[in-house]
Amino acid sequence: VCRGFSSSAVRNVVIKHVTIIGGGQMGAGIAQVAASTGHSVTLVDTNEDILKKAVKGIEGNLKRVVKKKFADKPEAGEEFIQKALQNVSTSTDAGSVVRDSDLVLEAIVENLKIKQDLFGGLDKLAPAHTIFASNTSSLPITDIASSTNRLDRFGGLHFFNPVPVMKLVEVIATSATSQETFDSLLNFSKKLGKTSVSCKDTPGFIVNRLLLPYIMEVIRMYERGDGSKEDIDIAMKLGCGYPMGPFELADYVGLDTVKFIMDGWSAANPDNPVFAQSELLTKLVAEGKLGKKTGEGFYKYK
Ligand code: NAI
Repeated sequence: VCRGFSSSAVRNVVIKHVTIIGGGQMGAGIAQVAASTGHSVTLVDTNEDILKKAVKGIEGNLKRVVKKKFADKPEAGEEFIQKALQNVSTSTDAGSVVRDSDLVLEAIVENLKIKQDLFGGLDKLAPAHTIFASNTSSLPITDIASSTNRLDRFGGLHFFNPVPVMKLVEVIATSATSQETFDSLLNFSKKLGKTSVSCKDTPGFIVNRLLLPYIMEVIRMYERGDGSKEDIDIAMKLGCGYPMGPFELADYVGLDTVKFIMDGWSAANPDNPVFAQSELLTKLVAEGKLGKKTGEGFYKYK
């Protein structure tokens, strides 16, 4: 854990009111979990249609959760859903809602400039005690935070997809994140029912720094003709006990996402062979074969 200069504003903020910016896959998932665990959540996106869809998705997911969790207590289940939904409000104007937030968590498009512009603007509007955090998978938290004047109250909270199912949160401290901020983020993760790990602000933090080079080496292994896709997947599932083989996993994550992250890292670290390009991956992405979501990646899907 990094100890930066301490915030003069507030110590150990207990996070109750959360603004989540970006109501896509990740933001909606985080909103669902935060609302289910008693936080008041404002979900922000660029237009009402996206927000409506996000809330509908949350409601559908909650119904599925309740079916399992409250199988023999349908009334308690209904109450759980209503309580969680009451905790969620929506807005298309982040500036007006951050005034009441203990935490502003961003899960918008993976673009440094857009994230910087967002946080730079909100920094002037949010109260002094408000902690800012990004759910970025591949951008340095330090670079995103640099557009603000609250470097001590800025960290990373990296969730995994699908958020309600995946147990892990990576909590990231930059060299300027204060101990108080870091502790608040750890406590928040715990309140969400997640297990957290402490990470430094290095490319890919822990999980993706190991996962993406693994996937890239798997693709290169296949390109060299050292094994078939099917055999490599079977080998890693049965030999390592992994629930998915690496080609299945790459198709699930999206080959465009894998390539996008690797491109960013190889540009920033051109001499590191671990981040080198793969011709096959470039070709598949150029052909629009992005994995499960487009019906074809390394495998074909019905
Ligand atoms: P997504 O494309 O599903 O959702 C992004 C949402 O942000 C969209 O609804 C979009 O309308 C909204 N948005 C874009 N710019 C905005 C702005 N300026 N203000 C308000 N809303 C804005 O993307 P996804 O997959 O949810 O990813 C979001 C972030 O989470 C990215 O930074 C990504 O790297 C990170 N992440 C993604 C994971 C994944 O498996 N998809 C896993 C962990 C992190």
